[in-house]
Amino acid sequence: MATSRLTTCLDDGSLSLPSEGTIALFGATADHDLSALPVDRCQVIQTFRPDHDALAARGFDCVTEPAGPYAMSIVFLPRVRTQGQAMVAAACAATPGGTLYVDGLKTDGIEPMLKACRTRADVRGQVSKAHGKALWFPASEAFADWTSPGPGRITDGYLTAPGVFSADGIDPASAALADALPAKLGQSVADFGAGWGYLSARILQRPEIAVLHVVEADHTALSCARANLEDPRAKFYWADVPGWTSPERLDTVVMNPPFHTTRNADPALGQAFIAAAARALKPAGHLWMVANRHLPYETTLAELFGEVSEVGGDGRFKLFHAQRPSRPRR
Ligand SMILES: C[S@@+](CC[C@H](N)C(=O)[O-])C[C@H]1O[C@@H](n2cnc3c(N)ncnc32)[C@H](O)[C@@H]1O
Repeated sequence: MATSRLTTCLDDGSLSLPSEGTIALFGATADHDLSALPVDRCQVIQTFRPDHDALAARGFDCVTEPAGPYAMSIVFLPRVRTQGQAMVAAACAATPGGTLYVDGLKTDGIEPMLKACRTRADVRGQVSKAHGKALWFPASEAFADWTSPGPGRITDGYLTAPGVFSADGIDPASAALADALPAKLGQSVADFGAGWGYLSARILQRPEIAVLHVVEADHTALSCARANLEDPRAKFYWADVPGWTSPERLDTVVMNPPFHTTRNADPALGQAFIAAAARALKPAGHLWMVANRHLPYETTLAELFGEVSEVGGDGRFKLFHAQRPSRPRR
């Protein structure tokens, strides 16, 4: 891994760590270079389960909400602007009298963030490196208006939150999949990558369902799903789908799988979701899924299911129905 902006400015002494107290890492992922930090003094605030687990495995104390007060906070900017602003506001509130270090890629909006910070705070240092920038300043109350408005209702009354998938409305591809599902899905069903629970809500309209496993890696989205699915048949899992083990063999898996791990489309994640579905299903089970039209899932589906058909879609997405899973090994 190339030396990061954080390691560079700690190594050259332009930025220093506090001599005592906890250092918060807002939004740190498994891909960030944290090698210059003392692991036993850090607390990671991370709501995405795979990153949360990967950093916990490296010895970091990982939580989903800031606990504070912190001696210093390091903020790794996410892609969604309002989410990044909310992180800065939360970090400032949790770091009274301490330093805030904000780091991000140009493509994730670090330039406008830098500009905004200069007008609101006393910026003490800055570094540019590897298509990104970082800056640091004493935590300030001047960012309080960036505090996240928190979850809100969209049309149809569903609760969503800033930064979760399709936060502003129902995803058209998911709506098409929900409309294409048969009247009967069996008794035991799972929604993989359930988001704030749209597909799950549509699935639970079927009275014959005995249990619906709602599996989602984004803690914030799953909290919205809990609020949207007040139904005792729904069981919630904050989990990484490829590593999740179903407590029972399933009649049906429904999913609109994620199509990128970072900025770029990554079919491997969707393929791992298909393999997880094949593992979880009964021999007579069914997979219903929707995918962006350009993503190559046909080969994986054909390898892991005896019967696959494309049952609809449009120029942007395609709907699949797959049967006779071959139960791949992990
Ligand atoms: C395309 S969205 C679909 C969301 C929801 N089913 C809908 O239709 O609105 C994919 C979802 O998968 C979640 N996700 C991404 N990676 C995941 C993983 N490794 N395990 C579980 N869920 C994941 C994302 O947070 C996102 O909510």
